[in-house]
Amino acid sequence: MEIEASKAVQDRVAQTAERLLRDAGISTGMRVLDVGCGRGDVSLMAARLVGESGLVIGLDRDERATSAATERAHGLGIKNVKFIPGDLHAPPIVDAPYDAVIGRRVLMYQPDRVAALRPLVDALQPGGLVAFQEVDATMVPASTKPHPLHERVTRWIWQTVEREGATTAMGFELPVVLEAAGLEVEGLRAEAIIQTKHHRHLTAWIVRAMIPRIVERGVASEAEIDIETLDTRLAEELDRVNSAFIGDMVFSAWARKPLRSVA
Ligand SMILES: C[S@@+](CC[C@H](N)C(=O)[O-])C[C@H]1O[C@@H](n2cnc3c(N)ncnc32)[C@H](O)[C@@H]1O
Repeated sequence: MEIEASKAVQDRVAQTAERLLRDAGISTGMRVLDVGCGRGDVSLMAARLVGESGLVIGLDRDERATSAATERAHGLGIKNVKFIPGDLHAPPIVDAPYDAVIGRRVLMYQPDRVAALRPLVDALQPGGLVAFQEVDATMVPASTKPHPLHERVTRWIWQTVEREGATTAMGFELPVVLEAAGLEVEGLRAEAIIQTKHHRHLTAWIVRAMIPRIVERGVASEAEIDIETLDTRLAEELDRVNSAFIGDMVFSAWARKPLRSVA
């Protein structure tokens, strides 16, 4: 029951990305570049939308991620996606110019977001689409009743990411950096991922995966995290408070390269 509830929340998070791709206009036959693709979750969504006549290139500087994504696509029998190791500042020119450049949770890791976007805009055809989804911690954690454990755990996650050099306010920056890179913003949206006792997030699972980073960055010790009991304690807190808690805000923006570049 609990795993199912968590999976439902995970699915809601995935649906926000799929909604972005659809609303941006990712559709049959397009050639799409997914930058910072990781294990390919978003690339595989895009591959479904572009269909057999389209192509998705997933790019990531972490070769282990692109290898894992390649194996995943093979396992699923998906042929219209290719994963390539490399840095988004020098995008691969495979079947370029692209019809669309997309990315999720990747601009937040770039020290200069506008400089990172420029070569991606250059790799797009005129009128091409850009769609990014970024998380933002400016307004979270949020709730009307105290959830001390959830609040602490949320801060561990965000502080670790910040100490690794990422910005945790990328959502609010999104429209500004897209415009600064010469794009015309067409759509903007922010979505809160709400947890209740019946709709839990996989928070403990995320913390488990992040433990070495959390400890290495001096955010919390293994004893404080106490991972073996964390999920139970989080569940107990949501059950006891019986309210709603927001630990994640997801910002989406889509934009278009002008048909004519402005001098
Ligand atoms: C938080 S993960 C997101 C992965 C994927 N987009 C998703 O949402 O499932 C960020 C990814 O961006 C990649 N990345 C960060 N900066 C990059 C860069 N300059 N060029 C290519 N990949 C980059 C990292 O290696 C990592 O796999």
